[in-house]
Amino acid sequence: MLLRLSLGVLPFVGSALAQAAAQFTDPDNGITFWGITDVVHNVTYGYVFPPLATSGPNPNEYIGTIVSPLVNQWNGFALSGSMIDSLLIAAWPNNGKIVFTTRYATSNVLPDVYPGPVITTLPTSYVNATHWKWVFRCQNCTSWTGGSIDVSSQAAVPAWCSSTIAVDDPADPGTSMVQHTDFGFYFFPFGEAHVSASVYNNWAAGGTGGGTTTTTSSTTTTTTAPPTRTATPVDYIIVGSGPGGIITADRLSQANKSVLLLERGGPSTGQTGGTYQAPWLVGTNLTKFDVPGLFESMFTDPNDFWWCKDITVFAGCLLGGGGSVNGALYWLPADQDFATTAGWPQEWTNHQPYTNALKARLPPTDAPSTDGKRYLEQVFDVVAQLLIPQGFRNVTINNVPDDKDHIYGYSAYDFIKGKRGGPVATYLQTALARKNFKLQLNTNVWNVVRNGSQITGVKTNDTTVKDGFYPLNPGGRVILSAGTYGSARILFRSGIGPTDMINLVQGDPVAGPLLPPSSQWINLPVGYNVSDNPSINLVFTHPSVNSYDNWADVFTPGPPPADAAQYIASQSGIMAQASPRLNFWQAMGATDGVTRWLQGTARPGAASVTTNYTYNATQMFTITAYLSSGIKSRGRIGINAALNGLPLVNPWLVDPADKSTLIAGLKQIAGGVSLVPGMTMITPDNTTTIDAYVNSYDPSTMDSNHWVGSNIIGPAGQAVVDVNTKVYNTNNLFVVDASIVPTLPFGNPHGLVMSMAEQAAAKILALPVTN
Ligand SMILES: Cc1cc2nc3c(=O)[nH]c(=O)nc-3n(C[C@H](O)[C@H](O)[C@H](O)COP(=O)(O)OP(=O)(O)OC[C@H]3O[C@@H](n4cnc5c(N)ncnc54)[C@H](O)[C@@H]3O)c2cc1C
Ligand SMILES: *[C@@H]1O[C@H](CO)[C@@H](O)[C@H](O)[C@H]1NC(C)=O
Ligand SMILES: *[C@@H]1O[C@H](CO)[C@@H](O)[C@H](O)[C@H]1NC(C)=O
Ligand SMILES: *[C@@H]1O[C@H](CO)[C@@H](O)[C@H](O)[C@H]1NC(C)=O
Ligand SMILES: *[C@@H]1O[C@H](CO)[C@@H](O)[C@H](O)[C@H]1NC(C)=O
Ligand SMILES: *[C@@H]1O[C@H](CO)[C@@H](O)[C@H](O)[C@H]1NC(C)=O
Ligand SMILES: *[C@@H]1O[C@H](CO)[C@@H](O)[C@H](O)[C@H]1NC(C)=O
Ligand SMILES: *[C@@H]1O[C@H](CO)[C@@H](O)[C@H](O)[C@H]1NC(C)=O
Ligand SMILES: *[C@@H]1O[C@H](CO)[C@@H](O)[C@H](O)[C@H]1NC(C)=O
Ligand SMILES: *[C@@H]1O[C@H](CO)[C@@H](O)[C@H](O)[C@H]1NC(C)=O
Ligand SMILES: *[C@@H]1O[C@H](CO)[C@@H](O)[C@H](O)[C@H]1NC(C)=O
Ligand SMILES: *[C@@H]1O[C@H](CO)[C@@H](O)[C@H](O)[C@H]1NC(C)=O
Ligand SMILES: *[C@@H]1O[C@H](CO)[C@@H](O)[C@H](O)[C@H]1NC(C)=O
Repeated sequence: MLLRLSLGVLPFVGSALAQAAAQFTDPDNGITFWGITDVVHNVTYGYVFPPLATSGPNPNEYIGTIVSPLVNQWNGFALSGSMIDSLLIAAWPNNGKIVFTTRYATSNVLPDVYPGPVITTLPTSYVNATHWKWVFRCQNCTSWTGGSIDVSSQAAVPAWCSSTIAVDDPADPGTSMVQHTDFGFYFFPFGEAHVSASVYNNWAAGGTGGGTTTTTSSTTTTTTAPPTRTATPVDYIIVGSGPGGIITADRLSQANKSVLLLERGGPSTGQTGGTYQAPWLVGTNLTKFDVPGLFESMFTDPNDFWWCKDITVFAGCLLGGGGSVNGALYWLPADQDFATTAGWPQEWTNHQPYTNALKARLPPTDAPSTDGKRYLEQVFDVVAQLLIPQGFRNVTINNVPDDKDHIYGYSAYDFIKGKRGGPVATYLQTALARKNFKLQLNTNVWNVVRNGSQITGVKTNDTTVKDGFYPLNPGGRVILSAGTYGSARILFRSGIGPTDMINLVQGDPVAGPLLPPSSQWINLPVGYNVSDNPSINLVFTHPSVNSYDNWADVFTPGPPPADAAQYIASQSGIMAQASPRLNFWQAMGATDGVTRWLQGTARPGAASVTTNYTYNATQMFTITAYLSSGIKSRGRIGINAALNGLPLVNPWLVDPADKSTLIAGLKQIAGGVSLVPGMTMITPDNTTTIDAYVNSYDPSTMDSNHWVGSNIIGPAGQAVVDVNTKVYNTNNLFVVDASIVPTLPFGNPHGLVMSMAEQAAAKILALPVTN
């Protein structure tokens, strides 16, 4: 036995801030694990637990996975986060199979094989040409002699370890092995990583398929008769209350159509009945979703119920959709954003009346604090010093939407009176005042119900109406506004989209039987054509900057008391604004002759820092550089066997000229640093070139959450929806959300999405009813 373990805490080289576990779905089996991919060795570690006990001890098992490039000879973990007095589990590939071992060390010598855990390798484990993957059930694994883990913990810190040196005898689980060559820790809310017993038991037995479906099919011994209430038919059913859905619902109800808006999530802002509050806001009616300064805490709060748990990228599943959890950066669209060169049909290019209508209902502001003052402006001043010598001009960005070359200005938002405003505070309120409008929350639409091309209504999970069915009036229409991932999934589940996706639906025990016969499937490129802004963070320090403690405490315990008191008293001060302080744009030439635009967003604080040097964290700030209009890279999104939404082909920097352009933009920003006295770039630092930094950038962190295009508008044969946003080969099914947008606009997209919805509502109303 030669396992020597590192016991001391190594100096923290690399990331200053550890990774945090997030949920992901294994496409091979639909298991929704929580875990991380260690970005140095590219090893994924994931775990999912059975339900917490309602009384007595918790179950002592979990399902785990390790997915590793072959270059790592073995990998292991300790869920307790400690290498001594802990259950250690390690695994490696041998002859196409996974060999694993359980070990235990009481000191820094020779840990023995530890009997007790009962490990079953599950069928979706494999070794392929590049990777090995181990999926396993670990029973009797959450406690051991001298220790245990708390599976309800919201703040566990497990450890991983990796080695580039093979074990001595790979065929022998009891082999000797030398100490791992690297290890690390991460944050993990074990308490979140539980699924229902029926789902867990299915996976633990080697079954596949998703949590959502298995949960709903769990057997209950109920004697209640099925509901016989039939829902009232309406003219329009709108699915999803994001920016697209709310604006469409308001305009259609304004035209006296009967409108039912179905939203799977619950309330958000205080005005809508939301109650989720930071402790320092108790006693007010201000929720997490109301307070602009809490934006950064959306990503660090362990109780993050607002994200769609069945989509692997960030998507808001609550009233207001992404609009209730986003940074609310709000840019009025430019003419070019709706040009034919941007992929819009000619009929869409006259956007100005609709953009004006939007502006009238929801004016942008770049000074959201109710006292009109600007706070925490140091980053604005420093970045302006960087930009001015490079020929940038200071403008009020939304006063000149078409001017996007070498300009900068204050970040603009759709906050109102120092609170989150957006469509929820405006359009939704006028709709709610109408008798012909109804909003229904907590209702998940599974699919549209159709007879060939004619949609008759939608199938929901609502158990209070017969068959969960919501019908349309004769001549009625369904409008999907469930977002880029959500609307695509509803189409797949309705038998509309590429055959590979519909086949996954067919394999699902709940969704499969609800599909129309395959003779009625409609083959459209749903999920293709997606884009998202590739974004790369540069991190700096400057002596004048206040990083606001990296926003770490704003939710709990709270911002500095004076800032909290000021915000509660008058919705003014630092908390009345999200983190960004300055935005800039520049046109960039490229080797392929296509102009691309670079957007910069500057904010106090940083999400991660990679440097060997000491730096003053209270002075740090970030410039996120995005590539926007003009990018050519496209990806594909879809669903997996569990029917969870996920990217299938990443859309970032696939096109070489996209990549070289973004690198040129980053180099230009970095090149200006020397012009600003006291400014230092700490990520990448001066030991790393911009090229190397971009090449090693974790692709998933290039995600800007600006997904568009999965139900692209365009010509028959190439697109999903036609010029009126109607799904091809249907009579009365429409999509109005970010998914129809053909190319990314200049800026963060929800301003464009809202103008688009204004125009879509007008086009739909103008379209004669054909049945
Ligand atoms: C973290 C984050 C930050 C962002 N920051 C910005 C920013 O600062 N500025 C900006 O312009 N854009 C930003 N965006 C993007 C912006 O929020 C989206 O482009 C916008 O919300 C898209 O609107 P939508 O109507 O297409 O869909 P969504 O906002 O995604 O809304 C879809 C709605 O449909 C509901 N739904 C989904 N499926 C179903 C179903 N089956 N049944 C019933 N309801 C369903 C969802 O719960 C949700 O409410 C951000 C996005 C994220 C995630
Ligand atoms: C991890 O992935 C990156 C990017 O794909 C690659 O450059 C790197 O070589 C990989 N590292 C290992 C250990 O496989
Ligand atoms: C569980 O593991 C412990 C050692 O941690 C061992 O003593 C016990 O026998 C095991 N129980 C079962 C049921 O395998
Ligand atoms: C090998 O397995 C890895 C990890 O699951 C996967 O990403 C990769 O696509 C697989 N390669 C092939 C050729 O299937
Ligand atoms: C809607 O109905 C109201 C009341 O019947 C009427 O005053 C109004 O003109 C109608 N609006 C439209 C657009 O038809
Ligand atoms: C929220 O509280 C403020 C101050 O108490 C009050 O003016 C406002 O009407 C309340 N809003 C709602 C929606 O209850
Ligand atoms: C930018 O312009 C605004 C007015 O539009 C002005 O208040 C501000 O001081 C200017 N900032 C700089 C750095 O020039
Ligand atoms: C329907 O789904 C929503 C969102 O997933 C959930 O909140 C609601 O409880 C579900 N309704 C039923 C009856 O299961
Ligand atoms: C489906 O539509 C066809 C005509 O397109 C009609 O003949 C048939 O009766 C419809 N079926 C149902 C169940 O409504
Ligand atoms: C830090 O130092 C190591 C060893 O000298 C080097 O390989 C690495 O590139 C440096 N830079 C960063 C950002 O870690
Ligand atoms: C870090 O920066 C802050 C603010 O500029 C300053 O007060 C503090 O002294 C600095 N700390 C160190 C260790 O330099
Ligand atoms: C790199 O940066 C560090 C700290 O920011 C500084 O101490 C060092 O002198 C720099 N090295 C070079 C070659 O510029
Ligand atoms: C969307 O993607 C499909 C499949 O790649 C392609 O055939 C089609 O032309 C694209 N449509 C548009 C409008 O770009």
